[in-house]
Amino acid sequence: MRLSRYFLPVLKETPAEAQIASHRLMLRAGMIKQSSAGIYSWLPLGWKVLRRIERIVHEEQQRAGHHPMLMPTLQPADLWRESGRYDAYGPEMLRIRDRQDRDMLYGPTNEEMITDIFRSHVSSYRDLPLTLYHIQWKFRDEMRPRFGVMRGREFLMKDGYNFDLDEAAARHAYNRHLVTYLRTYERLGLQAIPMRADSGPIGGEDTHEFLVLAETGESEVFYDSEITDLRFGDRAIDYDDVAQCQGILEEFTSRYARTDETHDEAVFAQVPEDRRRSARGIEVGQIFYFGTKYSEPMGATVQGPDGKPVPVHMGSHGIGVSRLVGAIIEASHDENGIIWPEGVTPFHAGIVNLKQGDAATDSACEGIYRQLVDAGLEPLYDDRSERAGAKFATMDLIGLPWRITVGPRGLQSGKVELTSRRTGESEEVSPEAAVERVKGVYGVE
Ligand SMILES: Nc1ncnc2c1ncn2[C@@H]1O[C@H](COP(=O)(O)OP(=O)(O)O)[C@@H](O)[C@H]1O
Ligand SMILES: [Mg+2]
Repeated sequence: MRLSRYFLPVLKETPAEAQIASHRLMLRAGMIKQSSAGIYSWLPLGWKVLRRIERIVHEEQQRAGHHPMLMPTLQPADLWRESGRYDAYGPEMLRIRDRQDRDMLYGPTNEEMITDIFRSHVSSYRDLPLTLYHIQWKFRDEMRPRFGVMRGREFLMKDGYNFDLDEAAARHAYNRHLVTYLRTYERLGLQAIPMRADSGPIGGEDTHEFLVLAETGESEVFYDSEITDLRFGDRAIDYDDVAQCQGILEEFTSRYARTDETHDEAVFAQVPEDRRRSARGIEVGQIFYFGTKYSEPMGATVQGPDGKPVPVHMGSHGIGVSRLVGAIIEASHDENGIIWPEGVTPFHAGIVNLKQGDAATDSACEGIYRQLVDAGLEPLYDDRSERAGAKFATMDLIGLPWRITVGPRGLQSGKVELTSRRTGESEEVSPEAAVERVKGVYGVE
């Protein structure tokens, strides 16, 4: 992409309404524009990050054998009357009436709809286990939408639903989701800690929330500091291996880690004092096991091995895709702007031309641009006739992990500058070496 042709409406001023860094930076970097309270347009740069996160979420779900699909945003109220949640959900549900006077709603979640799909098409235990998921916009009419995309009213969520024959199988599905989530967050460049949580309106007794530690987080959290040393890393996982998934659940959830809703001072006091931490966190996901809460009232049964009908055991599992954009920025920025982790950066590298119109400089930039594109990467080439300072400020603000700076002086000795956004360190290298280094970072040939 050439910046001269892109739509990147960066703001010079810090928007007064934004209280936290991620909200400020997303507005300043031209990633989002508010349309009404808690509802945003995703401008091209923001949209690219959203898509990168979605892709990682998809890859990790499908790796575990979960099937992607897409359910509508608008749902019939009748389905929610069957589960009893149409009345229970309260004013966060946006209720809509269509021209035929039918009660509809903009889905805040999809347990009822997926259970309806399941009961229409699955009737035998032989079709289990089954996990279906989608990434779709949700609407919750939050009382206090704030912090930009962190607490929106319309937000993008991955929500997945498992259907299993019995509790043991559903617990394995729960553990399997925990593993997929640990992998997903690490690929996003985040440490998200599974914490014992409260089940809220989804219902059920077993649930963990995944929290990213951040001063601006909305949740108060208490944990054993040993937990922050855990890394999932590059492990080979067999998602059908019940013992392996159970082992990972135990490894990541046996130490004390709870949100304020489930915090218990007496239990916390058993953690050695020097390891007790209290902090704030951003909830980026949650997994639930809720047994037959929906399958029973909605008649989602299968014929068991003995021929008798049994209600299926279910769970649901959510990742806050749009919130993650904000959470990643909270975890990774400095006073000059965003610092994207390589896994989600909107462009892989920036190319800054210090003297637009100088034949040698232009042609060196074009060459670097072409080689990166040919390697399957997406560079952002600042080919505008702007001062160097303004170009650097824009690159720092939008946070691309690598910058290649090209100017006539360096080129005289065959060099360009390769700069890491994270460390700020620069190196003088040949244009070819700069390209190779960037390709190496992203593992492309
Ligand atoms: N208002 C919101 N704005 C942005 N993301 C949200 C919002 N509400 C929930 N999410 C994200 O969706 C994920 C799954 O939602 P869920 O756990 O059902 O919501 P909640 O914790 O509000 O009950 C949450 O972990 C969070 O990351
Ligand atoms: Mg939650």
